[in-house]
Amino acid sequence: MADEAIEVLLEEGRTFPPPDAFRQSGNLNDAAVFERADKDPEGFWAEQARELDWFRTWDKVLEWDCPWAKWFIGGKINVSYNCLDRHVKTARRNKAAIIWEGEPGEERVLTYRDVWREVNKFANALKKLGVQKGDRVALYLGMVPELLIAMHACNRIGAVHSVVFGGFSAESLRDRINDASAKVLVTGDGGYRRGTVIPLKKNADEAVEGSPSIENVVVVQRVGSDSGAVMKEGRDHWWHELMAGAPLWCEPEPMDSEDMLFSLYTSGTTGKPKGIVHTTAGYLLGVYLANKWVFDMKEDDVFWCAADIGWVTGHTHIVYGPMANGATQVMYEGSPDWPDKDRLWRMVEKYGVTIFHTAPTAIRTFMRWGTEFPAAHDLSSLRLLGSVGEPINPEAWMWYHEHIGHGNCPIMDTWWQTETGHPLITPFPGVTTLKPASATRPFPGIEADVVDEQGKSVPLGGGGYLVLKRPWPAMLRTVFNDPDRYVETYWSRFPGMYFAGDGAKRDKDGYFWLLGRVDDVMNVSGHRLSTMEVESALVDHQAVAEAAVIGKQHEVKGQGICAFVSLIAGVENTPELVEELRAHVARKIGAIARPDELYYAAELPKTRSGKIMRRLLRDIADGKALGDTTTLADPTVVAKLKEQYEDE
Ligand code: WT7
Repeated sequence: MADEAIEVLLEEGRTFPPPDAFRQSGNLNDAAVFERADKDPEGFWAEQARELDWFRTWDKVLEWDCPWAKWFIGGKINVSYNCLDRHVKTARRNKAAIIWEGEPGEERVLTYRDVWREVNKFANALKKLGVQKGDRVALYLGMVPELLIAMHACNRIGAVHSVVFGGFSAESLRDRINDASAKVLVTGDGGYRRGTVIPLKKNADEAVEGSPSIENVVVVQRVGSDSGAVMKEGRDHWWHELMAGAPLWCEPEPMDSEDMLFSLYTSGTTGKPKGIVHTTAGYLLGVYLANKWVFDMKEDDVFWCAADIGWVTGHTHIVYGPMANGATQVMYEGSPDWPDKDRLWRMVEKYGVTIFHTAPTAIRTFMRWGTEFPAAHDLSSLRLLGSVGEPINPEAWMWYHEHIGHGNCPIMDTWWQTETGHPLITPFPGVTTLKPASATRPFPGIEADVVDEQGKSVPLGGGGYLVLKRPWPAMLRTVFNDPDRYVETYWSRFPGMYFAGDGAKRDKDGYFWLLGRVDDVMNVSGHRLSTMEVESALVDHQAVAEAAVIGKQHEVKGQGICAFVSLIAGVENTPELVEELRAHVARKIGAIARPDELYYAAELPKTRSGKIMRRLLRDIADGKALGDTTTLADPTVVAKLKEQYEDE
């Protein structure tokens, strides 16, 4: 973010104190919790962990051999038991757990007892396919209840799930399956998106051809005959056929607190995505508490997190957190502008949604569409709003507050990452005075700081790198099959501290203002992509000699993808080729990675040691004066490029 923009943010003077209703009856309305947790974090987390249902309580709260953490050692617990059986034993058994709407308009309501039954049955089906404790199961589905059911079925028997976003390409799916050596893949015949069918099964088939570890593929029938899905004898099984014969009870596996719960792939600074490893008890505790306290989930709430389960937000704020709290939630399959741009607001009105959670990029899209769409619906059921995934700008915050919340709903701007498990810098509606576009302050028990290049704490008012100085239960434990990368990425830059990869400033009140990534990770519509990933996809094309990719400020997406490519000698630089290269990236990675802008460069600016200087490309793309070019091998390269860029 540019310095001027940061200054504007810090001058943001508006404040919004907690409304009386939250002050009085918010799930967290005692500010003393923060102090207590700070003095005795282990005692704090242990006290909270007693609210979960344990088969055996822990012997020791924490073993911390930086950067290796173990929480609740000796404890035995099962996640699906906590999210389902616990509620099914009470009057919640008949409560709606999931109110699902398909994009074409059909509805399904599943009570806690219904989800429990389906989870038990699918857990048995997985066992029958030979899945055992510790085995990996890959899930590649759209937003259908079966995805959530399959995730709980995995954790019920101690299998590790790895969800791959349904918008990823066959190749991305294959890489993730292979990295995890998954035994089973659960997919669908297709999914609906903006009125068209997403060919999930076709992509899955293509992926599995290069994935020798996959023994069985389970296929959810969502689309039917239009899908064109072909079943492979002996390998592929219809979900509904497996379920028809599955017994209704499956004993929940008593898992060790530190047993792996899931892995989820996310982009780092290199081309290869990393499998972030979360474990059982710590993650469950973190997401239970975060949903209870940040989103203030109450018995009669209707919660809607409009994220995809393929990202960590959907794991934490759909599959695990709300269900650990016994909440009712809405789940939607499709696009927010299908059939019209009021789809989400129509659904808020129809189901009486009380808590709504989305991303800044979505809010900026709604702003662009215009206020008439939310205004056409009665949104008075809403009492609380959430924002996640990227820095929200004050204008979007105010728009959300006025046009969706009608001035009555506090906004929880939650900062966190796939790695952190749940929001770590976040307001709480009963205690936090909000400032538009600040994620405010750390979660109880979390010690966050802003440090300089040397790792020295920067006094209030200053900016630097965001770090976390203490372990927390829901933190990632490692990178799957790559412990060195875990140490290197998160714990090496500042020894003894977790390096988040984000820049941040703190104001005089100690509020945090997140300023975006400081590494080669881009945040495109709240989705993480590395510049290297996109570069690799580009150079994979036969016409491309070299590529350099940068994130460029984008009005709606937060960041857009801007690529500079040099071509193999003799290849002509045509507009058609630009389109082909953009499409090539989308095919290789997924539509989210399609470059917004692509420029030809005769040569890319490099240092004398051959490193591409992305900083200069960023200056060119942002239309700024070029920074220091003295380390370049050939300074004329960048000058030529700038000229050419400005001509286009
Ligand atoms: C990166 C993590 C956390 C779930 C979705 C993204 C950025 C996330 C905020 C926020 C400013 C934010 C950071 C972070 N980010 N939330 N409220 N304000 N930035 O998870 O894909 O792991 O990405 O998203 O840059 O490092 P993710």
